[in-house]
Amino acid sequence: MNIILLGPPGAGKGTQAARLQAQRGMIQLSTGDMLREARASGSPIGDKVKAIMDAGELVSDEIVTALIGERLDSAQAKGAIFDGYPRTQAQAEALDLLLSERGRKLDHVIELVVDEDALVDRITGRFSCAKCGTGYHDRFKPTKVAGVCDVCGSTEFVRRPDDNEQTVRRRMAEYRAKTAPILPYYESRGLVRRVDGMESVDEVAAQIDAVLDATE
Ligand code: AP5
Repeated sequence: MNIILLGPPGAGKGTQAARLQAQRGMIQLSTGDMLREARASGSPIGDKVKAIMDAGELVSDEIVTALIGERLDSAQAKGAIFDGYPRTQAQAEALDLLLSERGRKLDHVIELVVDEDALVDRITGRFSCAKCGTGYHDRFKPTKVAGVCDVCGSTEFVRRPDDNEQTVRRRMAEYRAKTAPILPYYESRGLVRRVDGMESVDEVAAQIDAVLDATE
């Protein structure tokens, strides 16, 4: 099964994709994570995208589609979760092509419906373990023992440079202008399922599971 998780910054795409990967063996394909890996490695692509990401703008369609194309074959068996891709009409069309070239198709586009004002709090409170990458939130998902990662015991944590209020607002404007307009493309094919992203992490998970279980 191949699904897209669609929603603005902070909607919970990464949280739910990581859970689906752990529980269902699907593969999370996050263009945000791929771009952060590229910039951390100091590769030519990484240097090119750093300023764009820090400004909260979108990286070019060609770069992100190339990154997805490179990883898609790794997500063959149990399927892929597209997290943060596609984000433009051109990316949506490119994804259709990448899938059809491999004899695959999209099963669902799950839109996480959220109240944007509440998302600034979610994003500015986010941090992750510097060692294993597990994600946390100051208020909504703190570590069980203060300052210690639940998963690997590390005491080092990081925050994303684009998780400040000004950049978050820019990222949301990009979502409204370029990403939300691709919904009708999928609606016309009957692929869109809406989930209330303002519920708790567990409740959102239950709603997504209900969609996937109804398909299997
Ligand atoms: P990306 O990394 O994709 O960021 P984003 O879309 O802005 O999404 P986020 O990661 O901020 O949020 P999320 O929806 O995953 O929420 P999360 O689960 O973490 O992209 C970053 C940048 O890369 C872009 O700005 C762009 O420059 C570039 N880029 C990436 N893809 C691109 C593309 N395809 N084309 C062009 N450019 C691209 O949750 C947020 C917080 O809330 C967490 O702390 C979590 O614990 C908490 N939380 C989650 N769910 C809930 C809940 N239900 N209740 C309470 N708290 C919750």
